[in-house]
Amino acid sequence: MRVAVVGATGAVGTVMRRLLREREFPADEVVLFASERSAGKVVDGLTVQPLRDDTVTGFDIALFSAGGSTSKAWAEKFAAGGAVVVDNSSAWRMDPDVPLIVSEVNPDAIEDMRKGIIANPNCTTMVVMLPAKALHDRFGLTAMVATSFQAAGGAGQKGIDELAAQVEPLAADVRQLVEDGATAARKVEHSVHANTLAFNVVPLLGTLNELGYTDEEMKLQNESRKILSLPDLPVTPTCVRVPVMVGHSIAVRATFAQEPDLDAALEALRSFPNLVVEEAPTPLEYAGRDETAVGRVRRDLADPHVLNFFVVGDNLLKGAALNTVQIAELVVDRGLVGSAAPAA
Ligand code: A2P
Repeated sequence: MRVAVVGATGAVGTVMRRLLREREFPADEVVLFASERSAGKVVDGLTVQPLRDDTVTGFDIALFSAGGSTSKAWAEKFAAGGAVVVDNSSAWRMDPDVPLIVSEVNPDAIEDMRKGIIANPNCTTMVVMLPAKALHDRFGLTAMVATSFQAAGGAGQKGIDELAAQVEPLAADVRQLVEDGATAARKVEHSVHANTLAFNVVPLLGTLNELGYTDEEMKLQNESRKILSLPDLPVTPTCVRVPVMVGHSIAVRATFAQEPDLDAALEALRSFPNLVVEEAPTPLEYAGRDETAVGRVRRDLADPHVLNFFVVGDNLLKGAALNTVQIAELVVDRGLVGSAAPAA
């Protein structure tokens, strides 16, 4: 089995390479791809390849995490060359011929693969889907309000680097942070995040549409609907960047058809695979962990059909690389290797 990792030098690609080794993925050969800038570099003892028509054929599985435009340009070429592509970008997620899969939530959607491409959900949506599915199966989800607290690492290595570079200059003058925050915020550069992120919270993440929602927020609505097979689910999303390196958190207000019993809800959450229940999980403590954690589970003060909860997950692991590798494992388990559409 020949496996390609596209975007192998990035934040998610680096975790993918490690997971393929640690989970003993049955690859006979792994080939790493990145941009022309990295071609020729040696990573894990392997020389990084550039994407070229003559280098992308003959793979069985291709794991992509190199941004949407790279996926748009190259995923179909890998598929035409025989690979099943598992894509971590937003490029293919809403394509009706491309399954959008959270491995614990809707693995059977893999049978709908018609282009040789499977999409990995957005990292924030991913984390919400585990408790949402656990509770939906028990009580019937009818609406969701989700407010995210997203880590810098959701924007890739450059997002982590920008936050790291801001910490020391701002921490050097605590008095200024207290008394003149606007001056403190202007002391450092920002280009990845929409404002200075260190010691701050930035309530704008992505590009605004005409309704005043960002593309990141629209992913929460659209991808949740597709993954849960609830095409009309009302979703109210707010996405916020916080100065956490890795680990997304989401405060969720979920409405159900049935009035949820708290003990039954906790039982449904505890018995869901790879989901743990804790009183108050924090993203820092879940950075580097495979499990998604849910806590602060409580009935609404006003509406008996509503549960409120807080969910936390590592955006590079379950939010990205781990789910990608889990999907690749599913492709192998279901005998779908070699089933990608051949070139027309
Ligand atoms: P490179 O390291 O050569 O820039 P991150 O999400 O951490 O920013 O990582 C993005 C990944 O996608 C990196 O491995 C990056 O390679 C790769 N990448 C970015 N642009 C391209 C491109 N046009 N073709 C192939 N790989 C790309």
